[in-house]
Amino acid sequence: MKNIIVLNGSPRKGNTLALIEAFTAGAERAGHKVTRFDLQKLNIHPCLGCCRGGKDSASPCVQKDGMEQIYPAYREADLVVLASPLYYWNVSGQLKSAFDRLFAVAECDLNYTNPVKESVLLMAAEGHEFEEAEYWYDRLMGHLGWKSLGKVLCGGVMEAGAIAGKPELLTAERLGESL
Ligand SMILES: Cc1cc2nc3c(=O)[nH]c(=O)nc-3n(C[C@H](O)[C@H](O)[C@H](O)COP(=O)(O)O)c2cc1C
Repeated sequence: MKNIIVLNGSPRKGNTLALIEAFTAGAERAGHKVTRFDLQKLNIHPCLGCCRGGKDSASPCVQKDGMEQIYPAYREADLVVLASPLYYWNVSGQLKSAFDRLFAVAECDLNYTNPVKESVLLMAAEGHEFEEAEYWYDRLMGHLGWKSLGKVLCGGVMEAGAIAGKPELLTAERLGESL
């Protein structure tokens, strides 16, 4: 059984959420535990770059906001799902800010290493130009030494709900089930 957290960077109930729900259905069917964080609702502030965190492992950042809910779950997680709409060729600000703030966890470690995890990328977009977002994700995986288990990138979806019937939903479900 894997402990999975989903960082949902979409602010609306739309295509990214549909991918997350399909992935979650598959993962839960396979016996894994999935916890989703809807970042928009958590009032997460961007990183201040102060490098003064890490003194309290339960609450490592100097900023006390919605990340307080994520830090304990992140520590326990085997797999972190990064889910986001494509916003100007990259992940949303919500996801970027939350991920930057995970840096504080590394500050708890004298060797400045983030815990090693597995990861999955789920994204939705109007077009099909995911290259920059994939580059960011791939660089992150390489830098952190994480193992990516897959990406599901669904282009051609603009309005919320446009993803209905798209094959990427099945791909996401199967990815969750295959873990
Ligand atoms: C601020 C903003 C920027 C966007 N930038 C892009 C983009 O660069 N490329 C693209 O294909 N779609 C872009 N889109 C469209 C969204 O990626 C698309 O509507 C997606 O399905 C939204 O996912 P959601 O339903 O989970 O919110 C943008 C939308 C917004 C609101």
